[in-house]
Amino acid sequence: MNLRAELEQRVSAALQASGVDAPAQVAPAARPEFGDYQANGIMGAAKRAGMKPRALAEAVVSAAQLDDLASKVEIAGPGFINIHLRPDYLASMLSSEQPLVEPTSTPDRVVIDYSSVNLAKEMHVGHLRSTIIGDALALLLEALGHEVIRQNHVGDWGTQFGMLLAFLEEKGEDSEQLADLEKFYVAAKKRFDQDADFADRARSKVVLLQGGDPDSKRLWQRFIAVSIAHCNEIYQRLGVTLRDEHIMPESAYNADLSVVIEELRQQGLLSEDQGAQCVFLDAFKGRDDKPLPVIVQKSDGGYLYATTDLAALRYRVQKLGANRILVVVGAEQSLHFQQVFAVGRAAGYADDETRLEHITFGNMLGPDGKKFSTRAGGVMKLSDLLDEAEQRATGLVAEKNPDMDAAECREVARVVGLGALKYADLSKNRTSNYVFDWDQMLSFEGNTAPYLQYAYTRIRSLLRRGGIDPDKLQGQPVLTEPAEVALALRLARLQEVLEQAAADAMPSHLCTYLYELASAYMSFYEQCPVLSADAKVRDSRLLLCRRTMQTLKQGLDVLGIETIERM
Ligand code: ARG
Repeated sequence: MNLRAELEQRVSAALQASGVDAPAQVAPAARPEFGDYQANGIMGAAKRAGMKPRALAEAVVSAAQLDDLASKVEIAGPGFINIHLRPDYLASMLSSEQPLVEPTSTPDRVVIDYSSVNLAKEMHVGHLRSTIIGDALALLLEALGHEVIRQNHVGDWGTQFGMLLAFLEEKGEDSEQLADLEKFYVAAKKRFDQDADFADRARSKVVLLQGGDPDSKRLWQRFIAVSIAHCNEIYQRLGVTLRDEHIMPESAYNADLSVVIEELRQQGLLSEDQGAQCVFLDAFKGRDDKPLPVIVQKSDGGYLYATTDLAALRYRVQKLGANRILVVVGAEQSLHFQQVFAVGRAAGYADDETRLEHITFGNMLGPDGKKFSTRAGGVMKLSDLLDEAEQRATGLVAEKNPDMDAAECREVARVVGLGALKYADLSKNRTSNYVFDWDQMLSFEGNTAPYLQYAYTRIRSLLRRGGIDPDKLQGQPVLTEPAEVALALRLARLQEVLEQAAADAMPSHLCTYLYELASAYMSFYEQCPVLSADAKVRDSRLLLCRRTMQTLKQGLDVLGIETIERM
């Protein structure tokens, strides 16, 4: 159950009964003295209705039917209402009969465009954030019962492909150099910059390819296949759920591009500007207040990135039936997506009910505060980064567990290292840049994956020590100690946190929650003996332990992070 939404609904009803027709806002209280939840916005509502805030708050408190779930409801300051929950109500939410997560009754069909690498080069750290954040959002929405359609909008059609094809032809088709696409790209680029004949050949290759020449097409397909295989290796290692069937490359929209232009024309949206086809929208004005053009076709007839994105939007709504579209791409493409969404809406590709969201994220920075790179200053390949994560974690795990055998140590290190890497990304507010810091992310203390994974293994080991089969625990806990109540309150919030994270497309909400939950568990564990307690108390506490274990597991699953039995 979504506790916050339930409270909001009841307080809204009380507001209505008090003569104010405005929805209430209820949020977890910022401090324990404010209760567990706090209703706010009463002051504003009172002002708008021409009432005294205090009088309205009093009316709301007496009209609100909260007795079953609140032990105390008090007015605080001008127009805040503090709600203290009843421990027995919290306990009932945590009964063994209550599901961990309830599916939504109004499922969306959500397209998530993520990873979306350019296939000309190997995947690098710049693609890491989109891949990790996008995958977590897909899992999160699915956990809540939404239908998710993954779209890996890979770049496979730019002018660089002419260069790569010309180079591949020169090197021989089975060129072993394709094993390292990064090197191959760099070598081709060097050749392109230094040799004018080669550059000419590269340019004519693009023309041939785009004109449908079978030979060029075959070579191109071969290149694309190698590049996709590289991506798949990374996805597999990262435990990311993208598969070949989710690839919807830029080239797949080729035939739709002229249709898009035609439809824009029919809608009266096109104007010609210096030979190029443009859409001018009032919402996009330059400094001199003149509208800025969104160019959709160049004067030579060529199409642009924006044209493909319009075709993709059209396809996602019309063919895939999406009512929510999330495009997970770095913040530097903000203006691009604002324009694509605005032109798309103007063209009727998306109506007002269809949510179009650019899920932005900042850069991953090195310790020097500059864009993350290798020591030599180049872009770091993702496979090298993953290797390093596993290596570093192996050192830590071996140090912690000198007796662990090598194979188990490696497996634990893989789970911890990759978990740490993903969690470091997911736990930050995605809209800002973040500093990549191995020591912080691999720490067993603080808001990190190892801390959460460790909390999970501690509960597993407690159950093992007690010889307890968690599936056999029945009933609901009895909450008496403050640490029990505090833990129960966290546990009861899972649903609302998942729903909020899904609505805002913010995996970091879930991370913050899991961290608070694990900390509440640690305090509970210190203050409330479990296995040594009397039978009744012991059973009740075991229920709390199990629910915590399940909640941590569910949360980490949704983030795409593995758990282990011991570490
Ligand atoms: N391939 C693009 C890049 O690496 C990202 C594509 C994102 N998706 C989209 N529909 N434009 O910058």
